[in-house]
Amino acid sequence: MLPQLLKSLLPQQPLVRVALLASSGAAALLVGRKLYLWGQVLMLTILCGKADRALYKRKRLLFQRLLDRAEELGRPMEILELGSGTGVNFKYLPSGARLTALDPLSEARGIFTRAASKETGVTLAACVTGFAEDLSCFPDESFDAVFCTLTMCTVWDLDRMLKEVRRVLRPGGLFLFMDHTLSDRPLVRAVQYAVTPLWYFFGHGCHFRLPQRHVTKAGFSKCEISEFDGALKMTLLRRMVDGCATK
Ligand SMILES: C[S@@+](CC[C@H](N)C(=O)[O-])C[C@H]1O[C@@H](n2cnc3c(N)ncnc32)[C@H](O)[C@@H]1O
Repeated sequence: MLPQLLKSLLPQQPLVRVALLASSGAAALLVGRKLYLWGQVLMLTILCGKADRALYKRKRLLFQRLLDRAEELGRPMEILELGSGTGVNFKYLPSGARLTALDPLSEARGIFTRAASKETGVTLAACVTGFAEDLSCFPDESFDAVFCTLTMCTVWDLDRMLKEVRRVLRPGGLFLFMDHTLSDRPLVRAVQYAVTPLWYFFGHGCHFRLPQRHVTKAGFSKCEISEFDGALKMTLLRRMVDGCATK
């Protein structure tokens, strides 16, 4: 009944039919993609907000290095954030800093800029839609510091990203990061490996791996890295790592 009704609604000319079906298919794909991206923004808003609250004390300690460096500089600090998401990190930045934010998810830009407008101490220098693996829109040695939180787990090519980070940092510049890492408990680590394909799909590209290993072999002159437990409740995300590398 329904197929016949649909058939009667379709135009008679085969070419027009094909064009109509193709354009409806393309429209459905576009709408599906938009819905997926908005789902991602919703997930970021809820989960990253929650993670930020859980990691607040630890982040304060990590970002203290930026505050100290800003004081030494005596001029506005140029900072680049990779994977800026919904803008949970403004509150940790030194007052007077100029922040450039980069993220491939342009759909989160509205929430990010609203967070920026609430933070009077930091100037938003630019918002760039792009991937951390390709920072070619920034000249060499253009930032005093680069940082990312919960982003290295989603970056596809970490070594390429770190090469780019070193290129855009000024000599002596700082790279700060915080992320989840592989568990030190063999059973949990085995589960992390086992669920990786599903996790990758539902977690919008999130991997279980050892970001600290990539940072230590990226050619920084100094790396201070520490692992810690328990900030996030979920067993698979319990083991975390943060650190500061100096160019
Ligand atoms: C889990 S969220 C973390 C967001 C924010 N940094 C935070 O701590 O709440 C990961 C972010 O990385 C972004 N992202 C994914 N792949 C990326 C890539 N290759 N380069 C830069 N950012 C990326 C995502 O769009 C998302 O905003």
